[in-house]
Amino acid sequence: MHRKLVVANWKMHGSLTANRQLLEEYIQRLKSLKNVDVVVCVPYPYLAQAQSLLQETSIAWGAQNLSKDKVGAFTGEVSASMLRDFGATHVIIGHSERATAYCESDENIATKFMQAKAHGLTPILCVGETLIEREAGVMEMVVAKQIDTIISMYGASLFANTVVSYEPIWAIGTGLAATPDQAQSMHEFIRGRIAACDQEAANSLKILYGGSVNPQNAVQLFVMQDIDGGLIGRCSLIAEEFEGICRAAN
Ligand code: 13P
Repeated sequence: MHRKLVVANWKMHGSLTANRQLLEEYIQRLKSLKNVDVVVCVPYPYLAQAQSLLQETSIAWGAQNLSKDKVGAFTGEVSASMLRDFGATHVIIGHSERATAYCESDENIATKFMQAKAHGLTPILCVGETLIEREAGVMEMVVAKQIDTIISMYGASLFANTVVSYEPIWAIGTGLAATPDQAQSMHEFIRGRIAACDQEAANSLKILYGGSVNPQNAVQLFVMQDIDGGLIGRCSLIAEEFEGICRAAN
């Protein structure tokens, strides 16, 4: 089992005032937890604020997206090296809320994954199926395609020391989390898929579960063999709830 990782995904929430309060609470509440890594992924404009408030703490910070390109005339995009400028260590890639709303292809997502790694950022690749896909029994096929695109474009070794987050779309923001068995089974599948091409990369990979994680269900989820932590939406906006999840991981 890996050391657990808990990542806050604030999505498009926050303000300078609210963030300061929330981060100060994170710092106070999490400082005694020594056996879990915590990262908070903030909206781009707040990276500097996260950096200034968190740099002397054990909490790391990151972003929720990045450009697939290195530099150039790409209005509105933010590059990996810009994220590095603000001390970001992690970046979420291919979140389903982006993939659907902004038509991100698996190929673009794969390139972003490569770009993050090439610049020393740890990519957190989101994968997961819709409810219709689960009911049709094709969830492993759907997730395999997302993983295989990266393997075929860049090789399985690119997964070494990275993070994949299994986020079934039906579980995001619905209050209906996957059961520990459902999540474990998909996590095992993901690790196996990568292990078939590169055992070492698969061993070093952390696989998070995301989708309606709360302090109660976190306890059962985090004891599963292949669940290395969580990617947390709603509960990351409430310091007490987030602390409960981090404690479960600790
Ligand atoms: P919720 O925890 O709000 O379900 O969101 C999960 C998620 O999308 C994390 O990226």
